[in-house]
Amino acid sequence: MTFPLFAPGINPGAPNAARVYDYLLGGEDHLAADREEAERLKKIAPGMELAARGNRDFLGRAVTYLARQGYTQFLDLGSGLPTMRHVHEVAREVHPHARVVCVDHDPMVISHGRALLQRSDGVGVVMVEGDLRDPVQILTDSAVENVLHLSRPVVALLVDVLHFVSDDDNPAQIVASLRDRMAPGSCLILSHACHETSPEVISKRRAGYVWGQTLIHPRPRAEIAAMLHGCVIHRPGLVEISTWRSRYEIASGVPKVPFLGAVADLQPTLAQLARPRSVAVTATARQ
Ligand SMILES: C[S@@+](CC[C@H](N)C(=O)[O-])C[C@H]1O[C@@H](n2cnc3c(N)ncnc32)[C@H](O)[C@@H]1O
Repeated sequence: MTFPLFAPGINPGAPNAARVYDYLLGGEDHLAADREEAERLKKIAPGMELAARGNRDFLGRAVTYLARQGYTQFLDLGSGLPTMRHVHEVAREVHPHARVVCVDHDPMVISHGRALLQRSDGVGVVMVEGDLRDPVQILTDSAVENVLHLSRPVVALLVDVLHFVSDDDNPAQIVASLRDRMAPGSCLILSHACHETSPEVISKRRAGYVWGQTLIHPRPRAEIAAMLHGCVIHRPGLVEISTWRSRYEIASGVPKVPFLGAVADLQPTLAQLARPRSVAVTATARQ
């Protein structure tokens, strides 16, 4: 493992959620404390690494899908570390100059992520500290505006993160703010823990995630669908992430992960509304 730096105030003896996630993804950017924590969590919630990899694979397929439609700007909210086929790596396979802003509220993630980007081709890819519970602040941050043309369509990502937002912080309102503020033609890639897909796994996961300051809030399908109210969801709709535009639909014995995911037009243009690939979003999204 090559760990680039410790930002002031970072305790390398304490596990960090983003580095634990990197370990679960099979990455190289983690420390002994993170590996110990990940192994502990895996005992409490077997299949945790499958969920992390399922989310990362979904992110990859969704970013590729939208990049192939011409999207070149991405705003990754709750990005974690930019490792292991992160947004910029995937988008740049289609558009070598795709621009990406990674937003995270964890200062460690920001400093570590910046160091990682400096080592690689980081031009047009930045880490910005911000709290996704305040999308207006993020969309008016000069560091974001320096990289993204916000008057043009942008793909916002809320992948494996909105379930860390409590009901008190109104996750549906966060999506609504993005919808109201982003340019017409902008899209959302969403994945969210759903306790209806696998209640047992999620209850164990919930127990596991009560470490540090991280508590998970899995939600029922109807609540996740309601977050997309007013958007136009792309086919195949709001589905289990491992089946979203993947071959898993026809495979047998594929492990299921308790997350739902969708790609949606946040503020559809008339042309997008006319597209045959879209399905209407209602409080109970259709597949
Ligand atoms: C499970 S990781 C997901 C990372 C990434 N979205 C992905 O798909 O790989 C969750 C990340 O969200 C960040 N996060 C959690 N709550 C946040 C908030 N309110 N604002 C910004 N980032 C947040 C955490 O610091 C962590 O890095």
